[in-house]
Amino acid sequence: MKDEIITGIDIGSSKIAVLVAKLSPDEQVPRVLGFSSVDSHGVKRGQIVDINRVVRVVENAVEAAERMAGAKIQSSYVSIGGPHIQSLNSQGVVAVSNPNTEITGEDVLRVIDAAKAISLSSTREIIEVTPREFIVDGQDGINNPVGMSGVRLEVNTHIITASLTNLRNVDRCLSDLGIKTNGYIFSGMASSLSSVTDTEKELGIAVVDIGGGKIDICIYTDGALSYSSSVPFGARHITNDIAVGLRISLDSAEKVKLFLSSKDVKKQLTEEHVGKTSKDDIDVSKLGLTEDITKVSYKTVVEGIIRPRLEEIFEEILSHIERSGFVTAIPSGLVLVGGGALTVGTVEAAKRIVGVPARIGVPGNMTGLIDEVIYPQYSCVAGLLLYSQHDESQRQGLDFKDFDKILRNFSLTKSYKKITDLFKSFIP
Ligand SMILES: Nc1ncnc2c1ncn2[C@@H]1O[C@H](COP(=O)(O)OP(=O)(O)OP(=O)(O)O)[C@@H](O)[C@H]1O
Ligand SMILES: [Mg+2]
Repeated sequence: MKDEIITGIDIGSSKIAVLVAKLSPDEQVPRVLGFSSVDSHGVKRGQIVDINRVVRVVENAVEAAERMAGAKIQSSYVSIGGPHIQSLNSQGVVAVSNPNTEITGEDVLRVIDAAKAISLSSTREIIEVTPREFIVDGQDGINNPVGMSGVRLEVNTHIITASLTNLRNVDRCLSDLGIKTNGYIFSGMASSLSSVTDTEKELGIAVVDIGGGKIDICIYTDGALSYSSSVPFGARHITNDIAVGLRISLDSAEKVKLFLSSKDVKKQLTEEHVGKTSKDDIDVSKLGLTEDITKVSYKTVVEGIIRPRLEEIFEEILSHIERSGFVTAIPSGLVLVGGGALTVGTVEAAKRIVGVPARIGVPGNMTGLIDEVIYPQYSCVAGLLLYSQHDESQRQGLDFKDFDKILRNFSLTKSYKKITDLFKSFIP
């Protein structure tokens, strides 16, 4: 395998993030060469609402990442999210083509194709088909049936669909910039790829990506993706509440919110308590607020404004988890990613409302210039990079023996087709 450049572009409601990395034969994980994150415009609840503005912002982000990496981005995986995302679990069954020998890759592709035969409106497209388990002659729980003998092959798959309009808008943004879209990955799934371990997925876990304008949920049970959905509100609502509650502008409210989750506030509060006064006012005079306020009450903002909104957010998340039917299947609890996960009190609210363990997730499995990247809001773009890594390894035929992973990771009609070709060229 020669060195390859791989990239991920996350088009979020709050920021557009781009990661460029090098894959080389002597390294297991991608080496980050370039990264950029710029404020997003023209994206609401994960969906593009002003395409020309988005093209300009993505262009800035891409140029900045290219400059840092000293490499040109020619193609990329891109995130897709928002309330237009839907998911379902679908079964497929086929007769094994040659029951006298063994199950082949062709049989596997046929059975997955059978599971993909769902009735879908012409305005939607399948973006992900993940096999959850295979069943050979009634024996279930099989990860990889290739090489086994049997007559009847079944598969349970998880399928994610997205609105075609959104896919086309994203594709147009990238093609206007001369970038080929390798595939559209559900943002919640991308975040999961970089932030949770295989053991957590095996035990059962829900990954919750709290973005600025939407919240993506992915539930893994028995190691496989079993449920995906997207909730149309996010951390920007917390900013709105602070703006209304303190009667300040949204910009000022955002500054106060970020300040409240910073180390400086903890320091101020400790000093305050150690000192003579017991009041909980925190000094916001250095935040550059446009309004004429210098102090806010920590308790009023954190317990009176942020806490009720976080509780509402986690009640909604809980209702999605309950609807999925996997509420008792996630002993590993919740992993919270996305910038909203950093809001003060998020982990406590998650534990209190959902009643399971919770932790903040950060992206891993990368090396190189990662200091700016290892924050929860970059889990998605890092996951896109890991997806690219997998795709590239497959393209170069490296991991081919690692059939389970290949099966778990193919996506979209385009890459699905590509992997079909791969199977055809490698499987005897
Ligand atoms: N340190 C922090 N403390 C509190 N909130 C934060 C912090 N950093 C970021 N946020 C919040 O996280 C949100 C942005 O998160 P993120 O960057 O994950 O969103 P996005 O991916 O652009 O949007 P989406 O996924 O909804 O399309 C903003 O509302 C921002 O205020
Ligand atoms: Mg996001």
